[in-house]
Amino acid sequence: MARMPLIAGNWKMYKTPAEAADLARSVVEGVRGVNGVEVLLCPPTVDLLAVGDVLGCGPVILGAQNCHFESEGAYTGEVSAAMLKAAGCEYIIVGHSERRQYFGESDQVVNKKVKAVLGAELSVIMCLGETLTQRETGAGWKDLISNQLAAGLAGVTAADMARVVVAYEPVWAIGTGKTATPAQAGEAHAVLRARLGDLYGGAVAAATRILYGGSVKPDNVKTLMAEEHVDGALVGGASLKAETFVPLVRFAE
Ligand code: PGA
Repeated sequence: MARMPLIAGNWKMYKTPAEAADLARSVVEGVRGVNGVEVLLCPPTVDLLAVGDVLGCGPVILGAQNCHFESEGAYTGEVSAAMLKAAGCEYIIVGHSERRQYFGESDQVVNKKVKAVLGAELSVIMCLGETLTQRETGAGWKDLISNQLAAGLAGVTAADMARVVVAYEPVWAIGTGKTATPAQAGEAHAVLRARLGDLYGGAVAAATRILYGGSVKPDNVKTLMAEEHVDGALVGGASLKAETFVPLVRFAE
């Protein structure tokens, strides 16, 4: 089964609601007529309704960058997957390296969030990846990402895997301008797909999308996407302008 490419913009903590709506309008305009690529925008939480209004029922879809693992409760400052669904989200990003690094999210917390997203009947993009030190200390990084994958997916059923997307984001490539080479990305994605095969069998492994993230730009997207196991991109910096994001969606042209 062919995997539908997914190009997702992670706007991080950028853009006010008005700015976000403007950017969403430019993206919608720019990707009009593109077929065979799923396009996802993940603005800051406070922008979701404004961006959702712009996207309407069109082909570009809405997602969030994080959620709490409980469905509601006394958790000041947090939002639940169910609330994000009610705000129009179809996807939630979980376990981004910035969440792991600055907010202390462990694999166990990531796993709870993955299950919360699936429980709310949304799709999840589960991020993982090694740091520079971890990569430089030898082949251990392969075990590390494969263990992050298994820990994050603990208790997730094969049936639920239809709503799971994995994002391989080597921490050393995020926001640094230092992209993994297509061969490096391809190698990591092959490791992850093999582990998915061990966990869920070949059919699920073959159907699960694995995105690459880390300094994806218009000038490197094509070679990354040419890798057999690279099924899309999770894009930070280049998603903040339609001029750089639209060409990513149109990578095949
Ligand atoms: P970047 O961020 O494209 O700016 O490297 C990617 C990400 O953090 O998802």
